[in-house]
Amino acid sequence: MTRASWRTRIGFILAAVGSAVGIGNVWRFPWFTADNGGAAFLLLYLLFVLLIGVPGLLGEFVIGRRGGSDPIGAFSALGGRNWRPMGGVALLASVVVLSFYSVVGGWILRYLLGSVTGAYFDAPQQFFGAIDYGLGAVAAHVVFLLVTAGVVYAGVDRGIEVATKIMVPGIVVLLVGLAVWASTLPDVAGGYEFYLSLDWGYLQTNFVDVAAAAAGQALFTLSVGAGVMLTYASYLGEDRSLAADGTIIAVLNTVVGLLAGLVIFPVLFSLGVPPGDGGPGALFISLAGAFESLPYSRLIGFAFFGVVALAALSSSISLFEVPVAYLVDEHDVARSWATAGVGALFLVTGSGAALSSDLFTLLADNVANLALTVGLLGFLLFDGWVLGKAALEEYESGAGPLARALGRPWLVAIAVVLPIFLTFTLLSSLTGLAG
Ligand code: PHE
Ligand code: NA
Repeated sequence: MTRASWRTRIGFILAAVGSAVGIGNVWRFPWFTADNGGAAFLLLYLLFVLLIGVPGLLGEFVIGRRGGSDPIGAFSALGGRNWRPMGGVALLASVVVLSFYSVVGGWILRYLLGSVTGAYFDAPQQFFGAIDYGLGAVAAHVVFLLVTAGVVYAGVDRGIEVATKIMVPGIVVLLVGLAVWASTLPDVAGGYEFYLSLDWGYLQTNFVDVAAAAAGQALFTLSVGAGVMLTYASYLGEDRSLAADGTIIAVLNTVVGLLAGLVIFPVLFSLGVPPGDGGPGALFISLAGAFESLPYSRLIGFAFFGVVALAALSSSISLFEVPVAYLVDEHDVARSWATAGVGALFLVTGSGAALSSDLFTLLADNVANLALTVGLLGFLLFDGWVLGKAALEEYESGAGPLARALGRPWLVAIAVVLPIFLTFTLLSSLTGLAG
């Protein structure tokens, strides 16, 4: 059987943007910005996306396109069987991330439904408390997983490409609409101020912590480290500029994060709802409470949680595709059976996270970061020290003059600078875990 491939350039870009744009953008990013110096943080973050996120993303693209296979198969094809475990780390990372991601996906579906019925309006705090962990959460996570599996089952071009071609523009259009609407609410100035005020002082006094967190976010937000981008790039031809596509993906991902903040903060400030501390349920709780007092509250709630649902779904599809690609590429399993098998796996792991808040927190706060960091370290060291010239050649294939000129600095960055940096963050998070 011929291997799957994207049908169009924009199809690949939108699928990758769909993966990048996720719960991280509509939820973590705006809070992070507001909490860490507003526009000053934003500049630092943009710098890290360019200096760390995009080079790391290209490191994954290069292995995927050259290896023409899932993470394990690509390492094996390019470096020999001994490298298979390194691909296994990425595969494991995708499983860890989706195991808690689909639980959050289930919550979002409950909010979407709650927007129609108005169920969360009266007591938003209690509503979240009633759905967060337990059998209801299991059921919601299963529904979210089934939708994800349905898209992956339909295939790379006819499932993922078609779906994300609708979902990503849908996210942008809805967010722009919501941001414009939010700007018409009374007393929104404080919201913009809270979000984007330029606070260099905060950044200066907390530079190390903020920088480390911003760098971590720059990688997570671009879906780097789990083999997702590797797998997506393996469905790509040699005629595309990886650097150009990677840059477009990073820019669109940032735009969506920014737009989400331009919806969230004006709404909260206009209604005098305290922004909260950003814990797992904080966004849901405070926004759900805020929507209640607005005209067309159900419509607004549905549109907002619709955006969050689309963002979560287009990311979960990409995570689900990694183990499916592994079964299809390495074990010649038909896509339909691979989808069923991977679905069964996530049914179990996700249900565990939906039943136990301890397991959820462990995966979401610790194991995921660890696995993503180790996964990425493996990609970068492999690019820089095993592939070397071949990595550069792959990077240059399809690239324009500007991208070509940046090829060597890119290779040095991913071979030396990024690994040192990642090792530091790894060690500091490990000692953080111990302490
Ligand atoms: N980029 C996604 C987000 O911002 C999360 C993600 C990480 C998705 C790793 C896939 C792989 O929510
Ligand atoms: Na993102």
